[in-house]
Amino acid sequence: MIGKMIHLTGEVTQEMVANEISIMMMNQGQDIIECYDSLEHTPKPSPKEPHPKKQLWMMMEPMSGDMEKVINHCNDTNYEYGEDFISYVCYRTIQGINFLHKQKIVHRDIKSDNILYNYKGEIKLADFGFAVTLTEEKNMHNDVMGTLLYMAPELCSGENYALSVDIWSFGIMCLELAFKRRPHEDVVPFPDEPLKILELIKKGTPKLDKK
Ligand SMILES: Nc1ncnc2c1ncn2[C@@H]1O[C@H](COP(=O)(O)OP(=O)(O)OP(=O)(O)O)[C@@H](O)[C@H]1O
Ligand SMILES: [Mg+2]
Repeated sequence: MIGKMIHLTGEVTQEMVANEISIMMMNQGQDIIECYDSLEHTPKPSPKEPHPKKQLWMMMEPMSGDMEKVINHCNDTNYEYGEDFISYVCYRTIQGINFLHKQKIVHRDIKSDNILYNYKGEIKLADFGFAVTLTEEKNMHNDVMGTLLYMAPELCSGENYALSVDIWSFGIMCLELAFKRRPHEDVVPFPDEPLKILELIKKGTPKLDKK
């Protein structure tokens, strides 16, 4: 078992963490990281930290690493994985997304560092911090959230969106696996402000490397 500690800050509220935990615990599937339990803990006051903050812990199934680390490692060592590896990771990831979408859950943060692998060679989706369940009353959302370079254009524009934003992010992740860098990352000069990056994404589908 492995623990993920979450500090409650202005950006991360108890309600958000409760949502993440309940989505994970209520939607166990073979392509989703299992969350066994959650607990609250407030450390004892110490001279270094006289007013310790409450911590929330999620106890999860242990994995070995994430796909971003695999890509970085391959870039550092000039190791080339094959198309069979890429297709296996993509297949398992889309199985996980399909499982969530059947329960009307949008993950909203599909990216290489949220796709984990374990020693058995299993690939699973993690990090449900931005996930939301669509309901009869609210079957579309328009909050701009996720990770910049993976965001779908309609999400960037603040338009209504539903499940398909995960498919865009999945596509970005597939390109990242194939080219070992994210689309748009080669833009020179790379925009230094989030709003400019959003503009870049809204321009349309990223160009592919010739390979
Ligand atoms: N069950 C797990 N087993 C092993 N490593 C994990 C596990 N869950 C998460 N990690 C590692 O910790 C990293 C961060 O986890 P997670 O994405 O759940 O947290 P986060 O606070 O939302 O982080 P971020 O904002 O970077 O996405 C993952 O990219 C992965 O490398
Ligand atoms: Mg993450």
